[in-house]
Amino acid sequence: MQIFETLKKDHKKVLDLLEKLEHSSQRASKTRHENYLILKKELLEHMHGEENTFYKFLLENEDLKELLYEAYEEHRTVRLALPDLEAKEVTDEQWKPILSVIGEMVKHHINEEEKELFKEAKSFINHEDDERLVSEFEESKKEAGITV
Ligand SMILES: [Fe+2]
Ligand SMILES: [Fe+2]
Repeated sequence: MQIFETLKKDHKKVLDLLEKLEHSSQRASKTRHENYLILKKELLEHMHGEENTFYKFLLENEDLKELLYEAYEEHRTVRLALPDLEAKEVTDEQWKPILSVIGEMVKHHINEEEKELFKEAKSFINHEDDERLVSEFEESKKEAGITV
């Protein structure tokens, strides 16, 4: 399904950025900061888009509610954790450990979406829904108005 491919493409972007940041050095502070800002924008836009289109559409199905509420909660936790990271300079020795914890949460969340939610959601999305969800998702990401 196209919507899963679209979401997975974003996930891949986020995972690649996390990987880069995990291997960034304290001295390369400019690159680290730039990559963090891209990661933040990607994450916030993606979560906004998912919540307002994909999750919202799926919530109508009783069977998916538990998984979806868990996913909303994971998004909320990630959003709450970002200011902790931003409270530190990228050159601070605590910066990377905090990033790693956020990264673990994000990776866990992505894994659950791709391995559980997408599998469960498949039977609730027909071809028409699929096409509509892709365009609504892309639109919603833009409307999120995330500037970093
Ligand atoms: Fe996602
Ligand atoms: Fe998500």
